Amino acid sequence: MHETIKDDAERKQVTVLFADVSGSMDLAEQEDPEEWREIMQRFFSTLADTVTRFEGTVDKFTGDGIMAVFGAPVAHEDHARRACYAALQMLEDVAEYAGELRREKGLNFSTRIGINSGEVVAGAIDGGGGSSYTAIGHTVGLAQRMEALAEPGKAYLTESTAELARGYLDLRDLGEFEIKGASRPVQVFELAGVGAARSRLDLARERGFSSFVGRAAELAQLEAALERTKSGEAAAIGVVAEPGIGKSRLYLEFAQRCRTEGVEVFEAQAQAHGKSIPFMPILQMLRSFYGIGDGDAEQLAREKIAGRSLLLDPAFAADLPLIFDFLGVPDPERPVPQMNPEGRQRALGDFICRLVSNPARKKVLVLIVEDLHWIDEGSQTMLNGLVEGMTGTPTLVLVNYRPEYTPAWAEAEVFETIALQPLSRADTAKLLRDLAGEDPSLDGIDEPIHARTGGNPFFIEEIVRELAEAGFLLGERGSYRLARPIEDAGVPVTVQAVLAARIDRLDPASKQLLQVASVVGKEVSGEALRLTVDLDEEELAGAVAELIEAGFLYEAEIYPQRVLAFRHPLTREVAYGTQLASQREATHAAAARAMIELEPPDRHDELAALIADHLKQGGETLEAARWSARAAHWAGHSRPRDAMRLWHEVMELSGQLEENEETDALGIASRLAQIQFAWRVGMDLEEQAELLDEAEVIADRRGDLHSLVLLRMSASGRPGLQLHTDEWLQHVEEMNRMADQAGDPHLQVAIRAAGAYAYLIAADFAGFERALDEIVELADGDITIGSGIILNTPLAWAEMGKGMAHREQGNLDGAESHFQRALEIAAEAGDPETASWVRSNQAGLMALRGDVEGALSVARRNCELTERIGDVFSRSLAIANLAWAHLAAEEYQEALDSIKEADRTYREAMKIGGEMEAWRSQLRARALAGVGRTEEAVAEAEWAVRTSEERGLRWSLPIALLALGRTRHAAGREGAVEALEEALEVAKETSAHTCLVDIEDQMALIGAGNPG
Ligand SMILES: Nc1ncnc2c1ncn2[C@@H]1O[C@H](COP(=O)(O)OP(=O)(O)OP(=O)(O)O)[C@@H](O)[C@H]1O
Ligand SMILES: [Mg+2]
Repeated sequence: MHETIKDDAERKQVTVLFADVSGSMDLAEQEDPEEWREIMQRFFSTLADTVTRFEGTVDKFTGDGIMAVFGAPVAHEDHARRACYAALQMLEDVAEYAGELRREKGLNFSTRIGINSGEVVAGAIDGGGGSSYTAIGHTVGLAQRMEALAEPGKAYLTESTAELARGYLDLRDLGEFEIKGASRPVQVFELAGVGAARSRLDLARERGFSSFVGRAAELAQLEAALERTKSGEAAAIGVVAEPGIGKSRLYLEFAQRCRTEGVEVFEAQAQAHGKSIPFMPILQMLRSFYGIGDGDAEQLAREKIAGRSLLLDPAFAADLPLIFDFLGVPDPERPVPQMNPEGRQRALGDFICRLVSNPARKKVLVLIVEDLHWIDEGSQTMLNGLVEGMTGTPTLVLVNYRPEYTPAWAEAEVFETIALQPLSRADTAKLLRDLAGEDPSLDGIDEPIHARTGGNPFFIEEIVRELAEAGFLLGERGSYRLARPIEDAGVPVTVQAVLAARIDRLDPASKQLLQVASVVGKEVSGEALRLTVDLDEEELAGAVAELIEAGFLYEAEIYPQRVLAFRHPLTREVAYGTQLASQREATHAAAARAMIELEPPDRHDELAALIADHLKQGGETLEAARWSARAAHWAGHSRPRDAMRLWHEVMELSGQLEENEETDALGIASRLAQIQFAWRVGMDLEEQAELLDEAEVIADRRGDLHSLVLLRMSASGRPGLQLHTDEWLQHVEEMNRMADQAGDPHLQVAIRAAGAYAYLIAADFAGFERALDEIVELADGDITIGSGIILNTPLAWAEMGKGMAHREQGNLDGAESHFQRALEIAAEAGDPETASWVRSNQAGLMALRGDVEGALSVARRNCELTERIGDVFSRSLAIANLAWAHLAAEEYQEALDSIKEADRTYREAMKIGGEMEAWRSQLRARALAGVGRTEEAVAEAEWAVRTSEERGLRWSLPIALLALGRTRHAAGREGAVEALEEALEVAKETSAHTCLVDIEDQMALIGAGNPG
């Protein structure tokens, strides 16, 4: 097993509360220290009890107060609310005690409270004399500042807490304050009391519900149960699902339907912090049954209770004192008979049962109890009794709860469960239309949001809100437009709170496993987990089982090996975010080592990028650079964009390391490789120049002649530079000499392969063939010689080049067999790039030979294959050749479209037109003439001629002149014959026989006086 650093501290989202006695120093002077200690003792224990009651942790006593944390060590999704409720309770309790002290001792004393929410690092800190659990971070400091700011007797909180507690609590905005230690002014609120909202749905109601989507089958199931109830058959249904899936919303919709039909519905819900307030749900239920409002006077409440009960059955009269008392409106004239708490509870339960099962009740009753997972024991017992006793009465009990809970009557015959599923893709899309709108800019958001949220409507709503708040979405709710890509949006704090709380409820081993898995990846093999996590076999198996059972992970594959995957990407993000950076780093490194150890070496190339990423995150920079380089090589010319990115990564990583032979070599290789990809996929010219300079500095320092030659070649002799051809040739010849001096056949071949192209562009066919022959001779049949340095397979390129030379000089059969050979070599070398170039040429050759259908089909297929490589140079070439085939087929509009696309593709990436721009331009001129836009055609052909002349592109010059002759003729303009004569002259000079034949044909056509 690999070593992992163990530190139990975690990053957590919490709410921190500070409370102190204001003016305590003055107070201390007035009192005897012993008495003072007693007062403080009582004060502290009041505060501490309240913290405990709301399941917070007393972090420390501060001398005149306390610091408490809500949400750590165990996360609570409602940590902010708990802190606020605790604060209200403290203010009340302290005020009461202070009143006492004022009356009895004439002491004046009050408390101040400060609250703030956010991330802390929570864990044991060893202060020398033993360790204690504490929370550390900016969040803590700001909470303390809130306390200092608060007026006596008040609780102040920040915007961060307000965001989580708003609606549930009544907050008074005090405006912005400059706070020491905070870079920006802080929005401060005073805690004024309890708010109107009790649940998330209350909050949603206030904001405006999103329109209800899906759930047809579930509503039908509820309707069916209601129908059965109407015929006197009691039923109970439990909806079970993770937080936010829509349990409450489903019941809300159903309750509305019931009420429209005139069916009475009574609701109650257990509260997260409610275990400490016994019978809350039952109280709610009874209040709603009797129609008692919050503001009702006691007398009125009693009248309502008595009225409804006695109407149902006069025998209930005996129960009234008990019910009055239970509902907090005791009747002074009718005191409750003495009984112990158990007896009282039993009597109450019994009363409720009789109420529900009373034969006088004919009307259907729907009772909804929400969030049973939080229910207190007393309420639970009463509810159990109610369900048992309701048989044969028109009663429908609807409950809901989260998966970790199972109701006691789960086995009962009347009981059905509905496991509510996340929203489907289509329903997610519907919900998003409602929340975000239909602006075209939102077209791509459904898929990523569905994937991220796993179809959880609460997460969807919160993410949309977060996106709007963070400026990813602009405009109003329901009509947003997307301002920037949503990929890097964070997890909303509200969602984080829910997920962190679920994670914290896990067994420690399961939680540890989940955290490790979140570092390893979206999908993790069982074996990799075994090697990365610090658990024994049995613990591991147990943890995996719990995580699957609880719906965090699922088995994505079981054969040939077990692969576990995260069900929700957000869970992974939260589990990842809860770990300390140092812990994550160790796990990343362990994950990389596990992969290297577990995976067969023949998969290492394929996994290299992933391994490199883990190593990088694991802080092992040199290893990361090595594996990135391996991944870059592997991506090679089949995936040039990936290769470019990976080489960039190698450069960055090696730059962070100390200079030595290896890091220098990586520094040079990564820059050279990026420059080689620059003419294939495009790169800013300035960035290219910078890379060249940096590499040259390193190569100079090392006296690395080999690299210097390649760098010079890249700077001045490679394709894609805006040079005059003569200048280009000069550079190429000099590079050849330098390479020969170095005497390395790989370098010689690589340099020649890149340089040979210049001769073709210059229409120096003899020079072209000479360079190609030299390649063949130096390689001596070995296709690996000089490969992958500049061009991928120099030998394949040499064969292709010879084919091109033959084609230009009129030997079409020879061209064909060379192309065939080139394709074979490229296939053997596994080189899709050169293969694409060859197929481009094959299509062109077929067009020349009049095999129009063949040309079109090869060119089309080639475009398709080339698309997959993703590089601009090959793509543009393939599309231009398709245009050529369309011209041969006299499909002028298609030709025009293709050539436009080819030219745009190249120019967009490269910012310039490259050495083929005049050739592309003459194709366009011909296409324009073909569709009848003859004036534009002439202008285009003129541009092709001028560009060829100015840049010495002698290969495209006669072709451009020929196009000029043709288009002038088609436009009925002067000078057609002159252009053709000039074309003839140039073609003869350069022995471009194939072009010559075309020119002569065209001249004959014109000479015969047959226009167009
Ligand atoms: N079918 C739906 N169509 C549209 N919005 C929905 C749907 N279901 C749920 N929502 C919205 O998603 C949010 C969360 O739903 P709800 O509160 O019902 O979840 P829950 O399962 O009850 O969660 P919890 O376990 O936390 O109580 C609410 O704002 C609700 O309006
Ligand atoms: Mg709910």
